[in-house]
Amino acid sequence: MKSIATWFFATGALFALCGMIWGIQMSATHDHTLSPAHGHLNLIGFVAMSVFGTYYALTPRAASRRIAAVHYALVVATVLVLTPGIVLAITGQGETLAKLGSVLGVLSMALFGFVVLRNGVGATDSERAEPYAQPAE
Ligand code: HEM
Repeated sequence: MKSIATWFFATGALFALCGMIWGIQMSATHDHTLSPAHGHLNLIGFVAMSVFGTYYALTPRAASRRIAAVHYALVVATVLVLTPGIVLAITGQGETLAKLGSVLGVLSMALFGFVVLRNGVGATDSERAEPYAQPAE
């Protein structure tokens, strides 16, 4: 079972690849109409996911709790709902999905704040690995 930090980083890389390919497509076609959707895919899907992944990598106490998986699912849902939601809003096909994605985004960030306040940041001495430990003789 991969760690929650690995899931955050790996999913972030996948979202970034999609966002970058989309960016190249926008550049090649000279059609930047959907750039706000591309921007949100990259910034929430990659930048925010990577910040969250870094936090969980630094804080094993938080990573070991079930709420970390709930947080991951909420952020992924935000990206998957908000990105097409912005596309629909820009193209005049309704704002419902964008509104729903926005609420999910706010909940994701509020949950992150809760997790940080509850667990703090960083490992305790007992959780910290001893990188220079010598094998017993
Ligand atoms: C292969 C990589 C990428 C390409 C080719 C690309 C291409 C583009 C293009 C063509 C635009 C529209 C610019 C305009 O209309 O003024 C844009 C906007 C933007 N991109 Fe990217 N991009 C790439 C990667 C990224 C990444 C990695 C991020 C963030 C981490 C990012 C964030 C943004 C933002 C925030 C905007 C502005 C959105 C807005 O105007 O509402 N892009 N990009």
